[in-house]
Formats: sequence, C-alpha cells, structure tokens
Amino acid sequence: MCGIVGYAGPRDATDVLVGGLKRLEYRGYDSAGVAVITPDGSLAVHKRAGKLGVLERDLQRSPMPQSATGIGHTRWATHGGPTDGNAHPHLGDDGRLALIHNGIIENFAPLKEELLAEGAEFTSETDTEVAALLLGREFGRTKDLLSAFRAVVGRLHGAFTLLAVHADEPGLVVGARRNSPLVVGLGEGEQFLGSDVAAFVQYTRRAMAIGQDQIVAIRPDGIELTTFDGEPVQGEEYEVAWDAAAAEKGGWSSFMAKEISEEPEALEQTLLGRVHDGLVVLDEIGGGFPDDVLRSVDRIVLLGAGTSAYSGLLGKYTIEKWAGVPVEVELAHEFRYRDPVLGPNTLVASISQSGETMDTLMAVKYARERGARTLSICNTQGSTIPRESDAVLYTRAGPEVAVASTKAFTAQAVALYLFGLHLGRVRGVLPDGESRAMVAELQALPEKLRQVLTQGDEVREMARQMSDTRSVLFLGRHVGYPVALEGALKLKELAYIHAEGFAAGELKHGPIALIEPGQRVFVIVPSPRDTSSLHPKVVSNIQEIRARGAYVLAIAEEGDVAVLPYADEVLRIPLAGTMFEPLLAVALLQQFAMELAAAKGLDVDQPRNLAKSVTVE
Ligand code: AGP
Repeated sequence: MCGIVGYAGPRDATDVLVGGLKRLEYRGYDSAGVAVITPDGSLAVHKRAGKLGVLERDLQRSPMPQSATGIGHTRWATHGGPTDGNAHPHLGDDGRLALIHNGIIENFAPLKEELLAEGAEFTSETDTEVAALLLGREFGRTKDLLSAFRAVVGRLHGAFTLLAVHADEPGLVVGARRNSPLVVGLGEGEQFLGSDVAAFVQYTRRAMAIGQDQIVAIRPDGIELTTFDGEPVQGEEYEVAWDAAAAEKGGWSSFMAKEISEEPEALEQTLLGRVHDGLVVLDEIGGGFPDDVLRSVDRIVLLGAGTSAYSGLLGKYTIEKWAGVPVEVELAHEFRYRDPVLGPNTLVASISQSGETMDTLMAVKYARERGARTLSICNTQGSTIPRESDAVLYTRAGPEVAVASTKAFTAQAVALYLFGLHLGRVRGVLPDGESRAMVAELQALPEKLRQVLTQGDEVREMARQMSDTRSVLFLGRHVGYPVALEGALKLKELAYIHAEGFAAGELKHGPIALIEPGQRVFVIVPSPRDTSSLHPKVVSNIQEIRARGAYVLAIAEEGDVAVLPYADEVLRIPLAGTMFEPLLAVALLQQFAMELAAAKGLDVDQPRNLAKSVTVE
C-alpha cells in the first residue's frame, strides 16, 4: 500500500518523482523519499518521515542534483515505524544502489540473519533494507543491475514491487513485481513506472501492466520486459481512460467531496454500453462466462473487504431476487483461511475498487486453486485482481483518491445489479418486462442522486450540531442493512468515533441496551408504498428506541409522513424502487461522515492509520 514512482528520460527526475508521489500519496503517507542518479555517476538520496509535504519543503531548501533517472516512494509502514531511517529508498552497502519497495518480504528475517553473519550493517528496521543489501552485493558480483535483480528476486517470498537504480548505470531503472502492483507509462524518449497510472498520467496515457513474477527495465528509449528467469515477455499496452485533471481535486475542498459529487456520473459511466433495448447485455464477461456457463452456476460467493464487502451485501439481495441463485458474501480475509465448499459450478466474484487489496487477491487465487471460476468487479484498469480473474466487470467510477470509498461503492452496487439482471435473463428466470423495469430504475438513479446531493447544507448543519458526538448507531432492514453497515464504517474511518450498524430487527436481541437518552441513531427507512414494505416494522423500531430516549435521524422518501412523529430529524430521498433507494440513502451518510470529520478539523482524504489500497495481508 505504498506509492512508487520510477523515471528515465530527459525531464528533471526529481520533479517527475515528486509530482507522481503527490498523486499516489493516498496509498500511504507516513514517510517519503527520492533517489536520483546524476550524469557523472553518483547517487543522491533524500527521505523524510511525515507526509510528502515534509520532503517537498526539504527539497525546496536543498534541491536534489539535476538528474534524468530516479525512483520515489511514499510509505505506509509495515515493518518499522514512520521514521527518517525507515523511509525509502534504502541503500546497498556501498551507497551506490537505491531500492524502494511496496509489500512485505515474508522471509526477510532469515535473509537478514545471513547478511548480519556476513558483516552487513543495517540502518533501519525494515524488511526492504534486506533486499537493498542483497541487491547491492549481487550487483558487486554481476556489475549488471538487471541480472542482479534476477538473482535476488528469486530468493524473496511474499508480496513485493521493487524498483532500483545504480550509480554505475545512469539512465536505467529496474523493477520487479510479485503479488503487488506495477505499471509502465510509455512515453516518447522517456519511460515511467508507478504503483498505478496516477503516477504518470499527466505525461502519458499509454500504459502497460507488469505481470506476476516479471522484471521490467526502463530506459529513455524503451523498455525490456522479462520473467524472473529472463524469458522475454510481450506486455499488453492499454490507453488510460483517466486524464491528469480527473486525478486532481478540481476545486473541491477534498477528494472525497469531489468523488461524492461524481457519484451520478460514476453510475452513468458504469451503465454505459451495458443496456440494449432496455435489457442488460454484458458481452465483456462472455469470454470467461458464456451463457451456458452462467446457466450452470448454482451458487455465488462474493468476496471483498470493508466497503466493498458491504456493496456485496446489496448484490446478495438483488442477485438472489432477480436470478434465483444463492449468494453468500464473504470477508476475503476470512474466506482465505477456512475450508469453503466450492464446486465446479460455484461462481466467485471479487469486489475491489483498487484491484490490489491483498486479502481479496489472495482469496481469489485460493478460490481458483479450488476450481472456482472468478469474476472481478473492479474500478482500476490493469490492476492485479482483474488479471487474476476469468473475467472483469469494470465499475468505471474514475480515479477514487480519497481513502474513504464513496463513488466506488455505489458503482460496485450498480455493477452487481447489472450482473444480477444479466444472470436472471440468461437463466430465463426473470421476465423481460421486469428486467426492463429494473433497468429503467437503474437509469433513473443518477438524476435522483443529483437531487439527493443538493442537501449538502442540511447535512453539513446536522454534522456541525453533532461535532461532539461520541457514538452514532445506524439501523436498516433488508437492503437498508448494508447501508447501515456502510454508514457506520464511513463514520468510524473519517470521524474516529464509535459507530455501529445493525439490522433493525436485531436491535431487540441485545443492542437496544445501548440506547440511552440522547443516543444518536440514523435509521434508513424503507418506502411505505409497496404493500410488502418493511416500513411499518422500521417505524416500530424507531418507536422502540425513541421510548428509550434515542435521538432519531431518519432517512426517508419524499412524502413519507408516517415517520414525522417519531423522528427528530428527517433527510429526504426521491422515490425509487425498494432495491434502489439504499443507493440514494448511502450518499447522505457518506456526506454526513465527511462533514462531521471536517467539523472536527480532521483530514477527510487521508484519515489516520488508513491507506487507500491495503496491499498487505
Ligand atoms: C473504504 O472506505 C475503506 N477505505 C476500505 O474498507 C476499502 O473499501 C477496503 O479496504 C477494500 O478496498 P478495495 O475496494 O480497493 O479492495
């Protein structure tokens, strides 16, 4: 979950590296550093604990030497705290090689013992320095960085993206990856490396993903891609759909505010090209899941973590309803270490914004090893999880930079809805008439979401009134339940206060003991319109907690007057179908969490202790 940048070309390397790190800072931000090779063959390194701004101020005071080759790193600590010494890059013995790393080298301890026995001296507590010293010593034998890399990476276990430069080889950056992201930016007379395309998209939108156990050498005039064993590999080039502006705040107070505002467009983009004649058509998954395979699917497992698991819960309700296939939602990190029952007709779908979450990636690999076919629902082109899957359904929400996921969540839910409608039609269990009605609901969502998002001032005022709140509960039933869980997670990760989501029916089985006078409780209220609605039951739940002094903040559809006598505050959503109103309600809870964090003066885009992509298990 660190940010990594490499450059070889005519520009000032330090400018390119720091600019790239700025766009990757959301991947981890407790220390940062750069290393450049000067034309006269010396290595300059500067690294500092703290956010990237600390390093930038240092470099303004004492600039790095002019260079055309370099590597840069922004860190989320795994081994060793966020200190200057533990910051990357790390050096070889002779100080002429610099290395940066994303991931965890699981066998670093025995390798460190081996190096210590050979008299090596360590200046940090990191696993990365072990690789740097090994690589520096290997270079001493080979005098060639590429072959030194091949010798060393074969000895490393775990997850790693490594980049290195050596003063004896100006103009060359070498990278290697295993279970961790790395992409190449292909330029004219210049080449880039990054953890994701945000590192270089301002210079080039031609990209190439580096595959598992591959090594890439970049020089200004081109790249060389091989396996760890040195076998040449033909990489797949692709065009990055984002532009540099999309990766910037665009005038918003935070990336999170920008990304919430983009939710309607994220849904429109996710729907684009996937509806024909009012019905869902998902040709893009036909390679991995032709219709006959889909018809044989007898069970679906949805894998994810955090917010992505909660969007999976929304998918569970809709896929079971529309396709008649049992769906289980599994936390990827739990699934990975149990003995799940997977048959040849089990479809495993992973849900991941980044496509790099290690828990989810390892669970996908585990499922494949046990014979399951895998579908990736992902927001990041060319990321690892889609490449490890039989097919991918991209969510097209655009870059999501804020650590707290918002537009990706709603886009994931829409992708799951599309899949459920597609599956129901292919299996012949969902009449076209009903399918078309659901598609119409999906296509109406973006405009309804735009209406919901006009309540920003009310939500901000509500948050300001609650800025000293220490605990908030969230209640929902049916598809409102995943929204309750997601609303609680948003508040935890942004405002750092106790927040818990419950199925409203569960309250009387214990959690109601938490209710005391003044306890703030959000309630996602279902529509009262359809006869089978759970509205009466949820209103009863509201009465139960009001009777015990709770302060109720209801999210209810326009025109629902039944809640008025029992709610202290009401936020409104436009009328939509039962399965669709939660996607309107969740936007208000995302806004609320953001506004409460802002009211408390907290960093909305980079909350403490978190990282955007958790690429360690
Ligand atoms: C979302 O607000 C959280 N930052 C976190 O739960 C995130 O959803 C989770 O880590 C999964 O990330 P992914 O979607 O990139 O796999």
